[in-house]
Amino acid sequence: MIVAFKLDKIPKINLCLLPTPIVPLDQLSDYLGGPRIYMKRDDLTGVAFGGNKNRKLEYLLADALQLGADVIITEGAVNSNHCLQTAACAAKLGLDCELVLSGEEPENITGNFMLFKILGVPIYRVDDSSERRRLMKKREKELISSGKKPYIVPTGGSNAIGALGYVNCVLEVVNQAQQMNMEFTHFVHAAGSSGTQAGMLIGRELYSPKLSIVTISGGISGEFLTIETKQIIRDFEAQFNVGLDLDQISVEVETRYAGPGYEIPSKEMVETVKLVAQLEGVFLDPVYNGKAMVGLIDMIRSEKISKKNSVLFLHSGGGPSIFNYSHIFS
Ligand SMILES: Cc1ncc(COP(=O)(O)O)c(C=O)c1O
Repeated sequence: MIVAFKLDKIPKINLCLLPTPIVPLDQLSDYLGGPRIYMKRDDLTGVAFGGNKNRKLEYLLADALQLGADVIITEGAVNSNHCLQTAACAAKLGLDCELVLSGEEPENITGNFMLFKILGVPIYRVDDSSERRRLMKKREKELISSGKKPYIVPTGGSNAIGALGYVNCVLEVVNQAQQMNMEFTHFVHAAGSSGTQAGMLIGRELYSPKLSIVTISGGISGEFLTIETKQIIRDFEAQFNVGLDLDQISVEVETRYAGPGYEIPSKEMVETVKLVAQLEGVFLDPVYNGKAMVGLIDMIRSEKISKKNSVLFLHSGGGPSIFNYSHIFS
């Protein structure tokens, strides 16, 4: 049984511009002749170029500061949105930050990688993502022996503490919907490392039991994401004791819209990114939001989401990564 959960008693640092706006996508809704679609503009969370990780970092970096950390270590791919947001939030708080990045250093320095250079964060590179964890642990040890206090933020900021960011987002949406005198039936979002989905599902259990969370993978396996999300929810319950019953929470990930794979563009994604820019003046990133919007449009066209519904689409940021895809948009 759910017990009263005092989210406002959990240490949090104000890094984001909250609440982020909810805006109607009138032209897109009319074009599809479907339900009214709204967008939760988490691309406008503030630090760097915005994005969903800033919400998670409000809790993760508060935890780091409470533990006396003075340097943050995190990991991602060479163009990681998460690494950009972590490095920028750390800078804002006067903390050092180190990045462990997998993949080849890009020949053309653009997008997030260029922003890492501007931030001047030390970069430790490995060839494969499976090597990142070991290198982070090595750096942690080295920093401790040099008298520093490192704090590791996991991939995508996705753990029980990071998930609090999207528990808070669901509460924010409930309050905004009340002010707008409406109720959202679906909250649609892209998934990559599961923290957003876990937070939203927990938020739904706590604050908005009728809300459907629709999770769309940008190419990471559905099985992997489901296991990760369940683990984060389990860890959250172990840490915060809110009375979540994992057997009652159905964790579903839609994988049909990823096209050829993670970070690989699909024709549908390119058309959708152009459509949303041309109808709404909003740019979606090619890796996450572009593919999630392909999914939402298909669900509307196939009437999986009916005209009677009112849909909220999370714009989770990732803006700078669009510049890595200039070859497909030119
Ligand atoms: C822009 C963007 N949207 C969505 C996601 C997915 O969020 P999560 O990692 O919490 O699943 C990510 C990162 O993975 C991201 O960078």
